[in-house]
Amino acid sequence: MAKRTIADLDPARKRVLLRADLNVPLANGRVADDSRIRATLPTLRALLDGGAMVALCSHLGRPKGRDDALSLSPVAERLSELLGRRVSLAADCIGNEVAEEIEATPFGQAILLENVRFHPGEERNDPEFAKALAAPFDAYVNDAFGAAHRAHASTEGVAHLLPAYAGLLLDTEVRVLTDLLTAPERPFLAIIGGAKVSSKIDVLRALVAKADVLAIGGGMANTFLAATGTDIKASLSEPDKEDEARAILKVAKGRGVEVLLPTDMIWSADDHGDRILDIGPATLARYAAAVATARTVFWNGPLGRFEDPAFAAGTNGIAQALAKGDATTIVGGGESVQAVEALGLAGRMTHVSTGGGAALELIEGRTLPGVAAIPDANPPAHSQMTTGRAADA
Ligand code: 3PG
Repeated sequence: MAKRTIADLDPARKRVLLRADLNVPLANGRVADDSRIRATLPTLRALLDGGAMVALCSHLGRPKGRDDALSLSPVAERLSELLGRRVSLAADCIGNEVAEEIEATPFGQAILLENVRFHPGEERNDPEFAKALAAPFDAYVNDAFGAAHRAHASTEGVAHLLPAYAGLLLDTEVRVLTDLLTAPERPFLAIIGGAKVSSKIDVLRALVAKADVLAIGGGMANTFLAATGTDIKASLSEPDKEDEARAILKVAKGRGVEVLLPTDMIWSADDHGDRILDIGPATLARYAAAVATARTVFWNGPLGRFEDPAFAAGTNGIAQALAKGDATTIVGGGESVQAVEALGLAGRMTHVSTGGGAALELIEGRTLPGVAAIPDANPPAHSQMTTGRAADA
């Protein structure tokens, strides 16, 4: 069911709390990757242009109490540059002083509230904290897709205290990833990499039930290789997950899903040379050929230890193969997004998700609390009739 979005909100002369996922990597006190900030600009601009006063809020990192190293100050700097006007950072996200600052900010202008995780009530979804956060506002907009799998005060609690709407980014992310699962143009290829099978079992199970081809790489491929009798020597693997790997292969066989596993590998360059650290060129060519014939591709997780250029050919090659074709290409998850961004290929993808964990949970079929808390758009006629009496009462 589609959610109510900012298209259903008249923002004029409203004070709006905008939850964004501004949890961005920092380096030397500056924002190292601003894609999450850029991704929320359309929602922010729409609200400001519509005449709202907007206070953005977000978490940054996982602080235990107040921690100046995790202040949103570098984000305020970068946001001001990108927006082309000053966005000042409030000293906190709740309290009288912040309320006065919000009151004093003219309509059409934005401020940024300080890291919501400086308060333990945020992650506990404490009703009192949520109440304090909501107090100065007329409406709540959630654009934080990347944090929508967290049932925290700023992502879930406040949605029950203020009229709540989905932002444009959150709405797009949910639509693109839901369409991927419900109506993909076929053949549908899923490329899944990353270190561990254990962290992706649920996503593999969900995809094996939907995709036509499943290509596996990264450390998790080792567990599949070991499960099918290949000697992986001292490579990273999870022997206790080999049964799971075999079960996934069995489901694939039953459904006629083709599973691609590495057939040649790049081994570690140390004396022993006994650890698989990337897919080999023949495997890359097979995976790239699958990309070329697919009409829809979902990619999550690197195919090797790509942070080391000696083991990046597989991951970079997949990013390049995706950029070449005209299939619908959806990249989800932190590290594959990082690879695509580093190669300057993000603009060539149909959709690059801002959510790692959130995108995977959605694909696994789980309910995202941050999305569930937003009211549905236009309830169907029969439910209006059945709820009509209660509404009148
Ligand atoms: C993310 O980076 O995946 C989101 O911002 C969520 O952050 P968290 O895992 O610390 O809740």
